[in-house]
Amino acid sequence: MRIYRETDYRAMSRRGADILAAQILLRPESVLGLATGSTPVGMYRELVEKNRRGEIDFSGVRTVNLDEYVGLSPEHEQSYRYFMQRNLFDHVNIRPGATHVPDGLAEDLAGECRRYDRLIESLGGVDLQVLGMGRNGHIGFNEPGEDFPLGTHVADLAESTVSANARFFDSRDQVPRQALSMGVRTIFQARRILLMVSGREKADAVAAAFHGPVTPKVPASVLQLHAGVILVGDSDALSGL
Ligand code: F6R
Repeated sequence: MRIYRETDYRAMSRRGADILAAQILLRPESVLGLATGSTPVGMYRELVEKNRRGEIDFSGVRTVNLDEYVGLSPEHEQSYRYFMQRNLFDHVNIRPGATHVPDGLAEDLAGECRRYDRLIESLGGVDLQVLGMGRNGHIGFNEPGEDFPLGTHVADLAESTVSANARFFDSRDQVPRQALSMGVRTIFQARRILLMVSGREKADAVAAAFHGPVTPKVPASVLQLHAGVILVGDSDALSGL
């Protein structure tokens, strides 16, 4: 595992963008696995700037997102499709048909999960998967539990995740209680994983994930077993390492 310890959020974002840019330069038709949430916003901003300056070309890139809320349409401001359009896709030269997010409105959710796994397989797998981490150690919406969910699945959000995500909604009641999420096997099959963490409130989860046992009670701990993990964090988030 490679660790980049950056001074602050800005530096973390720049480092993350450099790593994604390097991936695209090395393989212009890369399949990128992408995350939403507060953590990668600055990195996406840097990538938009790099694309504007002509330093990276997204025309061959394909993307698959980690997750989507059940019941939110792509036009809903808190859907992850909307987030990706607003923070990245609308501002770079990526082909619209080359970006994929699970369909949270699918009538057959189990079928949508199977379709998503087959889609990732048909793209040849993920070259570089971006991850954030929940304060409870979740990755994607793989919440702490008794076992690791394997493929893409319908996930029940932990109460602590509902509370953490309520900041994006008008009220806690509006936070969807379920999401479609890549599973731990789906994530693990990525050739490289870029895990980004920022802020003191992530420090305990980071320490538990990398200094504790590998356990589904801390889903990110499974990353200890992956040979291609790059951890990029600010000094607050990495203070327990
Ligand atoms: C987002 C996702 C989540 C977040 C995590 C951290 O697509 O899958 O696992 O990465 O909840 O969220 P932030 O970055 O908002 O702290």
